[in-house]
Amino acid sequence: MEEYLESLFVTLKAILLLILSTIRNIFPTGWLPRKDVKGQTVLITGSGSGLGRLMSFEFGKLGARIVLWDINEDGNLETLRELESRGVEKTMGRRVIFLNS
Ligand SMILES: NC(=O)c1ccc[n+]([C@@H]2O[C@H](COP(=O)([O-])OP(=O)(O)OC[C@H]3O[C@@H](n4cnc5c(N)ncnc54)[C@H](O)[C@@H]3O)[C@@H](O)[C@H]2O)c1
Repeated sequence: MEEYLESLFVTLKAILLLILSTIRNIFPTGWLPRKDVKGQTVLITGSGSGLGRLMSFEFGKLGARIVLWDINEDGNLETLRELESRGVEKTMGRRVIFLNS
């Protein structure tokens, strides 16, 4: 009986999450409440290229304080330059912290 209830609970939870993720994909522009990261510190590992760099740009747009962290210094500097050219540091008064591991 206990196993049956547990299976039922997991199945219902999976169905609920499936419905929620479907709604989120249909209304991607914030129909559902999203976490506000403005002013929050976001550490991005691997920010010197690829997904990490793209995440830096996205969190920059959202007004987060970004910690850029990468072993590739050149790539990380390029991300920093790109963020600055997008006005993340200057016009919006956001701070970018630049680190190398
Ligand atoms: N690109 C995709 O479509 C994709 C899909 C699924 C999963 N992934 C995974 O996501 C991760 C990032 O993917 P990507 O395409 O952006 O890769 P990428 O190689 O472009 O970027 C990875 C970055 O991480 C840095 N890095 C490596 N070791 C580090 C360390 N110890 N500390 C700090 N920085 C370090 C590298 O210097 C590099 O700049 C990888 O693990 C990849 O396997 C990527």
